[in-house]
Amino acid sequence: MNNNLISLSEEPISLFEKWYAQATKAEINDPNAMNLSTVCENNKPSSRIVLLKSFNNHGFIFYTNSSSRKGKTINNNKFVSLNFHWKSILKQVRIEGSASIIEESISDEYFNSRPFESRVGAWASSQSSFLKSRSELLKKIDEIKIKFTKDTIYRPKFWNGYIVKPDLIEFWQDMPYRLHDRVEFKKTKKGWESRNLYP
Ligand SMILES: Cc1cc2nc3c(=O)[nH]c(=O)nc-3n(C[C@H](O)[C@H](O)[C@H](O)COP(=O)(O)O)c2cc1C
Repeated sequence: MNNNLISLSEEPISLFEKWYAQATKAEINDPNAMNLSTVCENNKPSSRIVLLKSFNNHGFIFYTNSSSRKGKTINNNKFVSLNFHWKSILKQVRIEGSASIIEESISDEYFNSRPFESRVGAWASSQSSFLKSRSELLKKIDEIKIKFTKDTIYRPKFWNGYIVKPDLIEFWQDMPYRLHDRVEFKKTKKGWESRNLYP
């Protein structure tokens, strides 16, 4: 239980950094797992988990296949929402903003840092397309391994980093008797404006 209320004078990215550090120590795995919600063409929402790979004052970065369902959806509607729930520290962070593809050199650098097998997987997976059988995927993996070595494999153009530039960040923490503590930060021309919300 936590009795320290969130200060309205916090800077939201710094506060995220503090909470993320707490979660990294406490979570049993994947403290960087976040829900990513997108809006499809028919205005219906869809959600899935992706991993936060870095963040800074500009935004929150994850990597995915641009031809996947989420990739196509973001291409059509850049507005997305992220959500972290860190069970071990009883905290939630909601982020709303717009997603865009990051500079190729940054994605190249991250792609090249991944294990060879993961890089092969990125090439072999037509993410979100119909898979007839597992053997079809394994065959593609074998083909990619013949085509590339550890030294020649490079990032496919369809595999990209995305930055979510936030215009709203809400911090939520558990408090006794469900009187939870919520602070919403909204980006304005003057900077971040904060206010408390009823739980
Ligand atoms: C813990 C966890 C982490 C994941 N991380 C990623 C990720 O970083 N990038 C990604 O494309 N998919 C990731 N996935 C898979 C996605 O949740 C999803 O199944 C996949 O991206 C296809 O989503 P789509 O069909 O909505 O595009 C992760 C799944 C889990 C459970």
